[in-house]
Amino acid sequence: MPNPFARFTARFTTPALPQVVPGDVALVTGATSGIGAATATALVDAGFRVIGTSRDPQSPGAVANTPDHVELVPLDLGDPASIDRLPGELADIGVDVTGQAGPPVSVLVNNAGESQNGPLEELPRDALERLFQVNVLGHVEVTQQVLPGMRAQGRGRVVFVGSMLGSFPLAHRGSYGASKAAVKAFGFSARRELRPFGIGVSVMEPGAIDTGISQRRTVYIDRSGPYADEFDTMLTHLNANESAGIHADRVTAEIMRAVTSRRPKPLYAAGSSAGVAFPAARLLPRDAMHGIIAGRHGI
Ligand SMILES: NC(=O)c1ccc[n+]([C@@H]2O[C@H](COP(=O)([O-])OP(=O)(O)OC[C@H]3O[C@@H](n4cnc5c(N)ncnc54)[C@H](OP(=O)(O)O)[C@@H]3O)[C@@H](O)[C@H]2O)c1
Repeated sequence: MPNPFARFTARFTTPALPQVVPGDVALVTGATSGIGAATATALVDAGFRVIGTSRDPQSPGAVANTPDHVELVPLDLGDPASIDRLPGELADIGVDVTGQAGPPVSVLVNNAGESQNGPLEELPRDALERLFQVNVLGHVEVTQQVLPGMRAQGRGRVVFVGSMLGSFPLAHRGSYGASKAAVKAFGFSARRELRPFGIGVSVMEPGAIDTGISQRRTVYIDRSGPYADEFDTMLTHLNANESAGIHADRVTAEIMRAVTSRRPKPLYAAGSSAGVAFPAARLLPRDAMHGIIAGRHGI
């Protein structure tokens, strides 16, 4: 007898999808540091053929920090021409993003990103454009490149690495939070678009993760301007939270769930009391939640 609840459950639950398998190709953007390097390592350990990216794969830092057995190709998400060259770079090592002349990319972890800081009033247009090119358009365009091969293969996983600041906005980090909220919306929308093709899409929102990213933040602040004092307080707390944050491996464990699960969830999170913050946000008034986030950053 047909299940009378079948249509109901199909609408409200995630259906099982074909799984990616060891030997499949995984592409991790920004695999020379932090979360990307840890994820590339975990994918190698799980038996995938792992290709990582770096803006400069020959640089001593990239060579030293790239995990063993990870092949590096050049990619600068801030440069549209570099993104255009990515399918050719992959073809040179035998991977065909269409899946016709070689194995396609089966797993994409959109990880590389810029951590921008500054009050809304003082963010230069060119900085905003670069941030959205790197953190949003770059992720979207790389995903567009690999989807034909995933669809042809009938299986795939895409993970967008956002940030808890995409769910919980913080003063002086509006541009960064907006870029992460944007990839979350792309991810959640694409999730339904790609389900019929056996492709799972998830968003990973890390909290404070100890990767050293504090040394690589971009900062836009007028030191003699009206926001300087509060901005510095926020940044000091942000950097302290990061260095006291959890190890990148904890984020990687969630990303691997998204990659290996038959029913990948829409959203994964780790760090910054994520297990409390997301349920609390459903109960508390928005203003109260925003106040808690600000308070954790000293303002
Ligand atoms: N760490 C945290 O507390 C935290 C919290 C929330 C979200 N996140 C997000 O998690 C992701 C990884 O963060 P992380 O802390 O691991 O960062 P990270 O240690 O600074 O590593 C960033 C990686 O991205 C690459 N990269 C940087 N700019 C790039 C660009 N324009 N184009 C292409 N690649 C670029 C870097 O490689 P090359 O220098 O070799 O090019 C590096 O491998 C980011 O999207 C970040 O926003 C981090």
